[in-house]
Amino acid sequence: MTNDIAAAIETALQRVSDAASLDEIDAVSGETLGKKGVLGGLKASLAKIADIEERKAVGRSLNEAFASVSAAIDERRQELIAIERAAQVAGERLDLTEAMDAASRGHLHLVTQAWQELEDVFVGLGFTVAEGPEVETDWHNFEALNMSEGHPARGEFDTLFIGHDEHEDAGDSGLLLRTHTSPVQIRTMLASEPPIYIVAPGRVFRRDTPDATHMPVFHQIEGLVVDRDISMADLAGTIEAFTQAFFGKGFTSRLRPSYFPFTEPSAEFDIRRPDGSWLELGGCGMVHPEVLRAGGVDPEEWSGFAFGFGIDRMAVMRHGITDIRDMYVNDIRFIEQF
Ligand code: PHE
Repeated sequence: MTNDIAAAIETALQRVSDAASLDEIDAVSGETLGKKGVLGGLKASLAKIADIEERKAVGRSLNEAFASVSAAIDERRQELIAIERAAQVAGERLDLTEAMDAASRGHLHLVTQAWQELEDVFVGLGFTVAEGPEVETDWHNFEALNMSEGHPARGEFDTLFIGHDEHEDAGDSGLLLRTHTSPVQIRTMLASEPPIYIVAPGRVFRRDTPDATHMPVFHQIEGLVVDRDISMADLAGTIEAFTQAFFGKGFTSRLRPSYFPFTEPSAEFDIRRPDGSWLELGGCGMVHPEVLRAGGVDPEEWSGFAFGFGIDRMAVMRHGITDIRDMYVNDIRFIEQF
């Protein structure tokens, strides 16, 4: 019987280490330790041993056999549980890595690119970036900029007015979509004390029909400097420094006399390309004393200059785009070229 026990242990341990699943280990357990199992069967036949001492000895070694086989079964069961859990985790794993194919990666809008580069250049020249709302009051957009009601210059801005309810005529609310970034001049002066050196890029609106050179929604960048003893020479020097920083060496600028109600004297500024051709860029001038006053700045103590020009135009010009509308239709064949 001792031999039977030894053989049963050997077989059981072999089956335990061969078991590849929890089902198999359960089977080994039942067939070895269970009532009808091999060791269980041997236990039942203990009663047949007549000699008490021998029965005790065989009983002890049977108990030891049960203990060692069940310990082996427990150990293998823990191993199999760990293996099955790892397999389940691996099976449920989701690969969330995005396929980053450099060829299909997008890029910022051309106007956003020009906008950010303009900001960078002006920040490099010592300006900070300011902003104002797109829905403006008539006062900020016109009145405070020396264009009171009935001023003929108002007619040049095809303004989109805002009416709040259906009974109200558009315009009665005193609100409009800003037609230029110049109202940010007023807001900045009212919110801070000179010296002021800011640029204000932003979206502006005019009641224009889209064509190759116009969009009803476009972008401008405004500049405002208010300090002591600021002169037209500072304005010209700033425009020139900007031209070289943004367009590169070989580009120069010029001012041409012009008229804006909010600057006096006023000028348009042009950029001269290396090939000698000229490009009209924007308007500028010395801030009108009435405008300084509207911004709470004493014109006896402070003077300043302002400028404003279109960002969309810069973007089309740099990339040789012939129709400004192309930048807004989101045709992938167009976008992918940049
Ligand atoms: N606001 C003017 C425009 O939209 C441009 C401008 C800005 C002119 C500042 C002079 C000074 O046309």
